Amino acid sequence: MPLVTTTEMFKKAYEGGYAVGAFNVNNMEIVQGITEACQEQKAPVVLQVSKGARAYANHTYLVKMVEAAVKECPDIPIALHLDHGPDFETCKSCIDGGFTSVMIDCSSKPFDENVEITKKVVEYAHAHGVVVEAELGTLAGVEDDVQVSAEDSSYTHPEEVEEFVTRTGCDSLAIAIGTSHGAYKFTPEQCTRNEQGILVPPPLRFDVLEEVSKRLPGFPIVLHGSSSVPQNFVDIINAHGGKMPDAIGIPEEELRKAASMSVCKINIDSDIRLAITATIREYFDEHPDHFDPRQYLKPARQAVKDMVTHKLVHVLGCNGKA
Ligand code: G3H
Ligand code: 13P
Ligand code: ZN
Repeated sequence: MPLVTTTEMFKKAYEGGYAVGAFNVNNMEIVQGITEACQEQKAPVVLQVSKGARAYANHTYLVKMVEAAVKECPDIPIALHLDHGPDFETCKSCIDGGFTSVMIDCSSKPFDENVEITKKVVEYAHAHGVVVEAELGTLAGVEDDVQVSAEDSSYTHPEEVEEFVTRTGCDSLAIAIGTSHGAYKFTPEQCTRNEQGILVPPPLRFDVLEEVSKRLPGFPIVLHGSSSVPQNFVDIINAHGGKMPDAIGIPEEELRKAASMSVCKINIDSDIRLAITATIREYFDEHPDHFDPRQYLKPARQAVKDMVTHKLVHVLGCNGKA
């Protein structure tokens, strides 16, 4: 089937109590690892491209790689989405350039300005058959070159969401309930420790999610910053010359709970980076004489596929939903 928008996949996800995975793509191995997993698991998927990905890999290469995946995976719906579109021009360029979904992220701007720019993107997108994700509330962490400290992050105010969605006409809404971008989502000071001395992050604000859902019945909610930062990847990285002390993510059971509620799209990027880096670091340590990139990119691609398979089946619950 051709590239699709997220409309149908979100409707089914909302009704079915699961979430669709939105995975960031930056090169061929990542596209292949994700889509091979989704094809095998018969899972719908959002492949998302950030401004940084477009700068790194080039818009045309990314679109063509995703089109190749669509051809190779005929049984699953695939949406091509702009992640964290910073302005109207970037969104327009992606809408004109073959994307089926865009995010306009004006969450750091004042409410009325966020509404105004989002509305402009929605009008252009809808006129071209493309859907729009918007954001209210600010996540901590790093997006492209923008670093938001935990103090400057803020939860979404539920009392703003109806007005925002009505005035903008957006198709889905990303909200801030305590997730965060990157591999260091919480400082050790923000966490508690369990009996084994392992850091336990502060719980997500499910009360905010519930209040938002009550005010927007049936409306698809998006969670950014939802990597779990699997400890085995961090351990492998640290055992093979890496240095990622105190890397920590969102517990999988919290994501499962969110997926069973109104959250229809869960964004994962950092876990892909960790899977690749852990695999390649270990490979280099064990094969110091190898120098053909295919030798180490092949297991790295497999690690992405295995990690994504785990998410589809055990976290998102979208396996078999294509
Ligand atoms: O939310 C940010 C995503 O992880 C994309 O990261 O801007 O470094 O490509 P990037
Ligand atoms: P992570 O950094 O938790 O993977 O979040 C990715 C994301 O939100 C992309 O928009
Ligand atoms: Zn994000």
